[in-house]
Amino acid sequence: MSKNTVATLAAMKKNGEKISQVTCYDYSTARLVDAAGINMILVGDSLGMVMQGYKDTLPVTVDEMIVYGRSVVRGCENTFVCVDMPFMSYQISPEQALQNAGRIMKETGCSAVKLEGGKDIAPAIRLITNAGIPVVAHIGMTPQSVNAFGGFKVQGKGEANARRVLEDALAVQEAGAFAVTLECVPPKLAALITKKLDIITIGIGASSCCDAQVLVYQDMLGMSGDYVPKFVKRFANVGEQMKEAFKAYDAEVKAGTFPTPEQTYAKSDCSDEFLEKLDAEY
Ligand code: KIV
Repeated sequence: MSKNTVATLAAMKKNGEKISQVTCYDYSTARLVDAAGINMILVGDSLGMVMQGYKDTLPVTVDEMIVYGRSVVRGCENTFVCVDMPFMSYQISPEQALQNAGRIMKETGCSAVKLEGGKDIAPAIRLITNAGIPVVAHIGMTPQSVNAFGGFKVQGKGEANARRVLEDALAVQEAGAFAVTLECVPPKLAALITKKLDIITIGIGASSCCDAQVLVYQDMLGMSGDYVPKFVKRFANVGEQMKEAFKAYDAEVKAGTFPTPEQTYAKSDCSDEFLEKLDAEY
């Protein structure tokens, strides 16, 4: 498999090939994602919830995104890595957005940044892309606005909202984004937006009409809590397997059956005579 870039991903859209993306937050998982041939990774600020245990993404900082982001980049040979810009790292001014996007790219080695918002953040997208930093926009249900939405809710319901979501998509394309994530957008609207845009649409809860799909990996592997959003499909139950493995380890440690001689360095041991001498000395 060859390296995924903005150009190869754009060519995939043009050729009608679907694009895969998952979230990822650490080196070990990034190696597995890369080996699986996934096209794109999002180091999402969802890490605030799935890695740090917050109730939403708002507390996450730029410094934290950089720590997680650079671990992921080190694990990828071919997968394209995009890092989220966290809450309040780009909303104050386009200049603030550019400064933080530049920091994220310089300090992680990622290939793109993602910002939530449509028309309102178009000036920030323009400034960032003009500096040579590829941007993925994120519209529809934007988790950083959870307090304004009054919860994690489907967006684009009703004619006025549908028009607003389409106009946001057109605005971020016009500003220079090379892709746009559509979160919790109804299928026909997602299809229309995908048809109208030249840039890649990445769906999460936005149907198979989008050019690409993204899922939070803990959701798709059965590693998140009991609440599973409607748009998630569980591709494995890794969470259950991990729990069973931890239980088996716990039981063996407590029974004294782990480690066995097989897991020790017996060949490097000193002679019995020397150990008896040590025993007597101390
Ligand atoms: O932070 C994240 O993981 C995201 C996805 C839900 C698209 O933004």
